[in-house]
Amino acid sequence: MRQAYLGPNRRQVLGGLAAVSFARPSFAAVPELVAAQTAVQLAPEGYAPTPVWAFGGQVPGPVLRAGQGTRMQQRVVNNLDAPTSVHWHGIRLENAMDGVAGLTQQAIAPGESFDYDFRLPDAGTYWYHSHNRSFEQVARGLLGPLIVDEADPPEVDFDEVLMLDDWRFAQDATLMEGFGALMDASHAGRIGNWVTVNGRGAWSKPMPRGARVRLRLINGANARVFQLRLAGMRAAVVAFDGMPVDMPQETDTVALAPAQRVDLIADIVADEGEEALILSRERDGDYAVASFPVEAGQEPRSTEFPTLPPNPVSLPDMPSILGATMHEMRLEGGAMRGIASAMHQGEELDGRSLAERGMVWALSGVAGMPEAPYLEVARGETVRIGLTNDTAWPHGMHLHGHHFLEFAGAPAADAPSRLRDTTLLGPGERREIAFVADNPGDWLIHCHMLEHAASGMMTWIRVT
Ligand code: C2O
Ligand code: CU
Ligand code: CU
Repeated sequence: MRQAYLGPNRRQVLGGLAAVSFARPSFAAVPELVAAQTAVQLAPEGYAPTPVWAFGGQVPGPVLRAGQGTRMQQRVVNNLDAPTSVHWHGIRLENAMDGVAGLTQQAIAPGESFDYDFRLPDAGTYWYHSHNRSFEQVARGLLGPLIVDEADPPEVDFDEVLMLDDWRFAQDATLMEGFGALMDASHAGRIGNWVTVNGRGAWSKPMPRGARVRLRLINGANARVFQLRLAGMRAAVVAFDGMPVDMPQETDTVALAPAQRVDLIADIVADEGEEALILSRERDGDYAVASFPVEAGQEPRSTEFPTLPPNPVSLPDMPSILGATMHEMRLEGGAMRGIASAMHQGEELDGRSLAERGMVWALSGVAGMPEAPYLEVARGETVRIGLTNDTAWPHGMHLHGHHFLEFAGAPAADAPSRLRDTTLLGPGERREIAFVADNPGDWLIHCHMLEHAASGMMTWIRVT
């Protein structure tokens, strides 16, 4: 067969093949990120390794790291049995590299690869994850950290990436199936029963007393909002979703919606022999998800926490925000409230018919990806969106390709704001966001509770 396919002049064709394989080393210069099935020890010792889908054979995937202003090139090789794609969450990149299967590219078929190549305009803590059936593929392990280093990073003794996640284990520590089940989708989403940091149930690293540590917290869970408490350290937030704050904000609690990141700078103040801890508040108490056993060291620094250099994001100024048209985006549906009716694929449907099509949420009366964008704006325009959570559940709304200012209340010159790519709205909450639409292309805006996104909470904007 093969010979016949190669044609009559076998020698010549083989010669051609030899030339191809000879040329291979030059291709190998592109770093490869291979997605494949494997098994990793997520559960405690004594349990069998859990079968997962992973990048680079590990969960989370390898830490991809590069300097601000450089290009990142990754050849994603799909050795899975399912099509996939990779989204570089929070990176303000060119639209064709955004990795959204069905919008910015075709999914990478099994056995195929896709070359991603994009510039890293901003320093900070980001991550990458599958963006094809992400409610299943991220839950199976297709995610990893992406760190962009400042040219002149703040002075710290340690720099730790902590990727938080949760898993829904069966008794034998295999992953339970039922990805995207409507029961999960209409409630909080797929919440796991096992929490990991960097793939470990009890992640731990000894630290000398007085050490100054940069902690890069990333929530890679499908749906779990982490409510974290810090103990044995004095810490300040220096960045949200990769974007530096003007002034370090001292705190001992951190809320982290799915996909959100927080950079902390923390001084270990617990005594030698004690532990500094990151605790997660669960229904039945606080659990240590990361611990730093404290070793001999020195007195904690008395110097102030450093401020990170700002990233080159074009911020909308207050007059242009206040002058911009307000676009209302109502978050509707889910258990306890339901949807009376909504548009889905061009049809007005009642709640029951929507549920039959797997739709239980809507954004301003539209369930699921509409054919036309939610909003079409000219490049450079200031966009102002009012998000109202009319549901009984929290939602983490994420915008691709841009960071936005999130306002606690209404925008005003003295209103506190932060630059983010994902904003958490509790039940009944309202929030305004504003950004300069300076990145041309088609960009998703969706809930990052991945089951919610798959069951209605997803739309897109077009920047022309
Ligand atoms: Cu991190 Cu559209 O996703
Ligand atoms: Cu994104
Ligand atoms: Cu949601």
